[in-house]
Amino acid sequence: MLMNGIETMLVNSLPRRWLQRFYELSVFRRLGGSVLAGGRVLELGCGAGYGTQLILDNFEAGQVAAIDLDPAMVTRARRRLAGYGERVRVSCGSATDLRGVLGADEDTYDTVFDFAIIHHIPDWRAALDEVSRVLKPGGAFVFDEVTAIALASRTYRLLFDHPEHDRFTAADFVSALADRGLHVGGRVRMHRGGRYLLGVARSRT
Ligand SMILES: C[S@@+](CC[C@H](N)C(=O)[O-])C[C@H]1O[C@@H](n2cnc3c(N)ncnc32)[C@H](O)[C@@H]1O
Repeated sequence: MLMNGIETMLVNSLPRRWLQRFYELSVFRRLGGSVLAGGRVLELGCGAGYGTQLILDNFEAGQVAAIDLDPAMVTRARRRLAGYGERVRVSCGSATDLRGVLGADEDTYDTVFDFAIIHHIPDWRAALDEVSRVLKPGGAFVFDEVTAIALASRTYRLLFDHPEHDRFTAADFVSALADRGLHVGGRVRMHRGGRYLLGVARSRT
């Protein structure tokens, strides 16, 4: 589901970039969210490509495939990432159909990043099916998510558009990951009473 104008503006703002750069990256690192040097990385819902740039600059990813449902975001991301050449490819399409968008087979990626996108997908379980399908054995799913508690808050209801049904709590998300063979162990942090969830899930070797 696409973002409305207010959320688009906030996602592209300096505070959001600051949060990604100085907070989320360091939490991911502390939780063991490294990228295999030279590894293949997928980023879901890359927006304007700022997170993709952080992945390219701060982890030793060999190649990053970044996707977004919104063609306008894809255009912005391609512009931002043009200097990285063959190391990055940005495609338009849904995280629920990685074969259709990227031709992604089973066991393709070493790491999949989700910087706050899966709560935008009505069939979020289908996106997790795809993550578990394309991750290599022993691969990492690095996520930052917004839960049903935040989405039900007055601020979110007034300012943003999100799917109305089948929203997930932190426990729902972790349990849906485990059902797909992706285990967080202790590598998960909740913030603001379970409104936000950051973690690293590993697929079985
Ligand atoms: C809250 S923004 C996050 C953008 C960026 N990752 C960040 O953290 O700043 C959510 C993004 O997910 C994209 N999106 C929504 N549904 C999607 C889907 N089914 N597949 C891929 N991207 C999707 C939106 O277009 C938007 O760019």
